[in-house]
This record gives sequence, structure tokens and C-alpha cells, in this order.
Amino acid sequence: MSSPQTASPTFRAALPSRLEIRDIISTYEEGDHRLTALDGLTLTVGVGEFVALVGPSGSGKSTLLDIVSGLLTPDSGDVLLDGEATTAAQRLGRSAYMQQRDLLLPWRTTVGNAGLGLEAAGTRRDEAERRARAELWRFGLEGFDAVYPAQLSGGMRQRAAFLRTLLPHKNLMLLDEPFGALDALTRAELQAWLAALWEQERSSVLLVTHDVEEAVFLADRVLVLTPRPGRLAHELTVSLPRPRTRAMLASPEFVRDRAALLTALGVLDDPAP
Ligand SMILES: Nc1ncnc2c1ncn2[C@@H]1O[C@H](COP(=O)(O)OP(=O)(O)OP(=O)(O)O)[C@@H](O)[C@H]1O
Ligand SMILES: [Mg+2]
Repeated sequence: MSSPQTASPTFRAALPSRLEIRDIISTYEEGDHRLTALDGLTLTVGVGEFVALVGPSGSGKSTLLDIVSGLLTPDSGDVLLDGEATTAAQRLGRSAYMQQRDLLLPWRTTVGNAGLGLEAAGTRRDEAERRARAELWRFGLEGFDAVYPAQLSGGMRQRAAFLRTLLPHKNLMLLDEPFGALDALTRAELQAWLAALWEQERSSVLLVTHDVEEAVFLADRVLVLTPRPGRLAHELTVSLPRPRTRAMLASPEFVRDRAALLTALGVLDDPAP
């Protein structure tokens, strides 16, 4: 698989942005009562910072990304982009959002799918596909421009979805379990690939994952949510230097960070010595 090499000028144009979430409460209507998904969540993603969010299933992680992307309006609380309070409508289109169930359209080719984000932003289809085609090599998809998702491997489909998400050049990336459905080997490869891509882009990232090792390997900071309703339970600044390498997974720093997160999630009783 090819790894991201020199950044193209178009990708380098992205300016990172700062995200602040203040005291967000978000509920859903469920029959005759309201279910609280997020209960006073406050967090920040700094300019060019890579933040991972881990938490039990149902703790409101996807709800949070829906709110930040502007798809969902919270009951209360503020979302600030670059220091300015925003409404959900104002946030639409300001971030690159790879949703948890981010399916490719089966009737569109690789470049047809990869161009969808640009098309949604008003670019003509032939131009969107041309720009998608020019980036295929960075995403390990060279030569696969005219094939349909059913003919791609799981890892390739995921990279095509990444290309679709990143092509419109947003400052803030919201990634919801981008490797969730992949086997361990493909997942490890794509984690290293994303780490290298991020080294070039340095965009602000909020990554949701169930995988504590993935969080430590990729992020500058890891936030742990409580079980529903989601609140901040723990925050960890990752001790690993950059750029990250797979060899670091065996380092004492990595083992210590992972143990601290597993403890915060209630999976380990005591932190490792
Ligand atoms: N559209 C919806 N309508 C009603 N309830 C919802 C809706 N979306 C989510 N919920 C509920 O809100 C809570 C938080 O859901 P959310 O999808 O944000 O969790 P999550 O942390 O992303 O979970 P997972 O790790 O399983 O993806 C859950 O209890 C879920 O059932
Ligand atoms: Mg989710």
C-alpha cells in the first residue's frame, strides 16, 4: 500500500481551526420521555491538535460529532469555531465529517464516490472527479478510479471514504470509528497511513474510537467519556513523541498510557506500575 508522500498544494491550503464545546446537553425523544445522550460536555480541540474520544457504546460520541458538524442542534451549550459561537446551521459544511456508517454509493465508481464531498459543496461532477483522480495515489487507490465499491477491499473502501471526506479541504476533521469495520492488520496499516497523512496536513482532528491503542497511537490527547449520559471522565496527554511509529506500541510510555485509559474506562482495576 502506498503511504502519503509529498503533500499536494491543494491539500496544503487547509488552515487548521480551533473547536470549543461548552456545557453541551443533548437529548433525544424516546416515546414519552427524553433520553439524555450528553449531559454537560465540555472539551477543546486546539489548532492542529489530534484529539481522540473514547467511551462506552451509547455515551454520545456520534451525537457529539453530529452536533459539531451542524447536523444536530443540542438542547443547550455552545460550540465555538475559532473562538466564535456558532449555530448548527452556521457549522454545516465547515468540517470534514466521516460518519460512523459512511457507506460508499454502490453505483458510483471510486472517483465518483470520492468526488461526492466536493459535489455537495457545489463543484461540478466532472471537476470533482478530476480532482479526486489526481489524489488517488496518496490514498493507495491508483488504478482503481473506474471500479465500483464492491470490487474494492475493505481497506480500499475506507481510504476512498477518507478521500471523499478530505477532498473539500476543511480545517477540522471529525472521524467516527473510521477503522471500526476492518480486520486488525488492515486497521494497523490504515492507522499508520492516517498518522503519516496527519503529519502532512496538521489539521485539527476529533477522532471517535473504541480502540484504546488506536487512540494512543494517533492522538495528542485522549478524552474518555462516562457511560450515557456522556460527560468527561478522564483526560490523558499522550507521552509518545512524533512522528509516531508502530515500534512505539511496545514502549513503556505506550503501555502506561494504554493502562491509564483502560483504568479510566473501568476495564483495568489499577494502572500498570
Ligand atoms: N436518532 C436518535 N434517536 C433516538 N435516540 C438516539 C438517536 N441517536 C442516538 N440515540 C441514543 O443516544 C445515545 C447516544 O448515542 P450515540 O450514537 O451518540 O452513542 P455512541 O457513543 O456513538 O455509541 P457507539 O459507540 O455505539 O457508536 C444512545 O443511547 C442512543 O440510543
Ligand atoms: Mg457512535
